[in-house]
Amino acid sequence: MSKTHKPATIAAHAAGAVDPQSGGVVPALQPSTTFMRDADYVPLRADNIYSRADSDNLRQAEEVLRQLEGAAETLLFPSGMAAIAAVFRTVPNGGRVIVQSGIYWGTTAWVRDFCTRREITLVEVDADDLIATCTTTPADLVFVETPSNPWLKTVDIQAVADANAATLVVDATAATPILTRALDHGADIVMHSATKAINGHSDVLAGVLSTRHNDATIWQIVRDDRKMAGAILGPFEAWLLTRAMRTLPLRVERMSQNAQVLAEHLLGHDKVADVFYPGLPHHPCHDVAKRQMQGGYGSLLSVLVKGGAQEALAVVGRLQLFLRATSLGGVESLVEHRHTIEPHTGIPENLIRVSVGIEDSGDLIADWDQALG
Ligand SMILES: Cc1ncc(COP(=O)(O)O)c(C=O)c1O
Repeated sequence: MSKTHKPATIAAHAAGAVDPQSGGVVPALQPSTTFMRDADYVPLRADNIYSRADSDNLRQAEEVLRQLEGAAETLLFPSGMAAIAAVFRTVPNGGRVIVQSGIYWGTTAWVRDFCTRREITLVEVDADDLIATCTTTPADLVFVETPSNPWLKTVDIQAVADANAATLVVDATAATPILTRALDHGADIVMHSATKAINGHSDVLAGVLSTRHNDATIWQIVRDDRKMAGAILGPFEAWLLTRAMRTLPLRVERMSQNAQVLAEHLLGHDKVADVFYPGLPHHPCHDVAKRQMQGGYGSLLSVLVKGGAQEALAVVGRLQLFLRATSLGGVESLVEHRHTIEPHTGIPENLIRVSVGIEDSGDLIADWDQALG
């Protein structure tokens, strides 16, 4: 599609994916693992040999994401963690990485274990101290998550990029490419758990990496390793992703509006101690978020209810529309009492993490009011 098309147009048209063979306005699903050659042993299509490397459905989904990110190249993986692991595997044994602390616990846990096994020096640093550390500490890779899950800290991507020569990888899952194009702000590689808002229907597990420099050595390792080591997304999942992304800008817009309204309402509630949401003016990262995010502040927020674990769990137990389940970015609203799941990570006992869906905002507020009441 044309370079001038806006995200809503790219997404609605799935970056031009149709089915020329049938004339269908949506792409066909091609599950074949292998592809034929003619009598002279020439592949019928030079770009389709074996599906660990070649899939039209994968390419279609990747092209939508590539255009949305303004990237040179995009690669899909079977989960967000597989995408994260793919970039960390490029760090040489004995190297050094700087990783933001207080991010998605699954990332922290895996990175700690990986760095120990590979004798990589791991420097974990709070979002507030990232720039200072990056300025003084040479590294092979810097990994940040913005907004962070579940603290909703927003990192100034350009400032981190300017502070260190290392490859900067940004997990922008909670922002989505609709609200933040991390590559435009200086990231070398942007990562998303596509399991979240990019798919948005809680029925596909996927991860994605996009880069500005597809000739960089690190990217070539990532690309070759995906093919050779086989961390590939299946065609059906890729087809579902392409289908889901047609409404990504609409969903993100609605989820962000709902989250903003709910965050403002809850902040004023007498049973609530605080709300972490980048869209709230009192949030310490609001100014960075205002500069870096466009069209809203995303679907993720954390609510600190007055009291402790018992009070938080009582509220969570009384909610009716907000399903009690982990994950975020789906069309249905979810809540999670993270302290129950990861008590050792310093998560406050009274924190309820909320993923706001596309329901009617009045219904969502009424549900919280009755639960807090
Ligand atoms: C911010 C963030 N990054 C990465 C991941 C990992 O993604 P996946 O579950 O698709 O492996 C998650 C999962 O919750 C996440 O919230």
